Amino acid sequence: MRILFVSSEIYPLAKTGGLADVSYALPVALRRLGVDVRLLMPAYPVALERIERRRAPLSLGAVMGFDDVGIIPGNLPGSELPVGLVDCPPLFDRQGGLYADRDGRDWPDNFQRYALLCHAGARLAAGHGPIDWQPDVVHANDWHTGLLPLLSHQAGDGGAPTLFSIHNMAFQGVFGMDVAERVGIGPDYLNPDGAEFYGKVSFLKAGIRFARQLVTVSPSYAREITTGEFGWGLEGLLSARVGDLEGILNGVDYGTWDPAHDPLLPARYTAADLSGKRACKAAIQAELGLEVDPDRPLFVYVSRLTEQKMADQVLAAAPAIARELGQFAFVAQGERRFEEGFAALASAAPGRIAGRIGYDEATAHRLIAGSDMLLAPARFEPCGLTQLYALRYGSIPIVRPTGGLADTIVHADPAALAERTATGFHAAAGHADDLLRTAARATTLWREPLTWRRLAETAMAQDFSWNRSARRYLQLYRTMAGTDGADGEDGEEEQTLKLGS
Ligand code: ADP
Ligand code: GLC
Repeated sequence: MRILFVSSEIYPLAKTGGLADVSYALPVALRRLGVDVRLLMPAYPVALERIERRRAPLSLGAVMGFDDVGIIPGNLPGSELPVGLVDCPPLFDRQGGLYADRDGRDWPDNFQRYALLCHAGARLAAGHGPIDWQPDVVHANDWHTGLLPLLSHQAGDGGAPTLFSIHNMAFQGVFGMDVAERVGIGPDYLNPDGAEFYGKVSFLKAGIRFARQLVTVSPSYAREITTGEFGWGLEGLLSARVGDLEGILNGVDYGTWDPAHDPLLPARYTAADLSGKRACKAAIQAELGLEVDPDRPLFVYVSRLTEQKMADQVLAAAPAIARELGQFAFVAQGERRFEEGFAALASAAPGRIAGRIGYDEATAHRLIAGSDMLLAPARFEPCGLTQLYALRYGSIPIVRPTGGLADTIVHADPAALAERTATGFHAAAGHADDLLRTAARATTLWREPLTWRRLAETAMAQDFSWNRSARRYLQLYRTMAGTDGADGEDGEEEQTLKLGS
């Protein structure tokens, strides 16, 4: 099985959120199942710096009016995964964020940047690329890759079918109609049955309309996006395609996220011996300038600062959490107004509130390890990964039960506590008062060592590894490629699946 996996961000080459984690961990898991998976992403400067075993560029020739677009082959650091970086310096060689400049303004040519990625992917899908390799299936991710299935459909050249994963409906890649011609969308595709969306062009809609198979990242979110509340205007199209839409829960790469061998921590630990966790707490308190005090519960927030993540409500709840319950620490980046709010918080309560504005992978690991509770409310959450990481690190998540958060965190009501199935807390509304109330209840339980120890043990024992979900993707790829029944290299795996189901 040959899979071309196309994504706008892939850990550790370039990351702004969970998409990058999934774009690394799922291919790693697929490779373990014997899949020949190759990755494609833009040649951002950070990716060029970090790629390993970089080889000479292969030429795609002229694409979308850009001369001599290249693909730079190499490997993902620390893995055997081949990755190709789509190289077009006028579009990708710039300082700033992946999607926006330093002031947070989206790059005005994002439509071209990601259309180019799609053109490159569509050529490889059709076997017209500069390498002697054609995928059986293309796995495309989020709006950045939405034009890919449309371009394959339009070319009608028998290219590999596309599985389109929706990681977040809130980002749609909607641009003025005038971009259509520049990115190569033909007039036949500019109607409501194509990529047209209220007089504009929607890359996300193109993906949903023309991909063979649709997947989103949790079963609850798969249901939610067919409704007006979560569908962002595409609920009708999604409902029409519901037979091709499946929710497959994301997994965790425990090679990267496990306190037993996390090199980013000052001390390591397991559920059997939590002394390392206590050391992690003291270390992060000292590092951030919090009072070094084991007897205050430490609440943390590791997040993009957006409405989705209820940054406004966390900001409103934080002073009371720090005043009445314990300490609050964060590493967070996003909308300017929230960054300013969080920065001001810290100076208002020195010793009780501290954190970093910015994106910092090592701080994220150390905060999750050193904390007692993770605040992870959300207005909507396709899957969410931080709550899954927190579980493994024995930091108990406080979530709003929506999407993947509802699917992964079992609320600590008295029955679940007694049965030892509880793994966290649901704050049903997620607004500031609700967060504070839920955090207070969590603190009460935290002060009962035996109860808390059991809760942490159950949390740490949860297995959200990629194994099961990667197998489900493989089954879908097989169905799409028409090789479900065939014996292949991984025929044995197929047997296991059949026996297991
Ligand atoms: P989303 O993709 O919606 O932001 P997820 O929970 O799926 O949410 O994934 C978020 C990922 O980004 C996690 O790996 C988390 O640790 C990381 N992350 C978020 N914000 C920061 C930050 N400011 N610094 C470091 N890592 C962050
Ligand atoms: C998106 C979603 C998040 C999900 C991640 C990876 O960023 O917001 O819920 O975990 O993609 O699929």
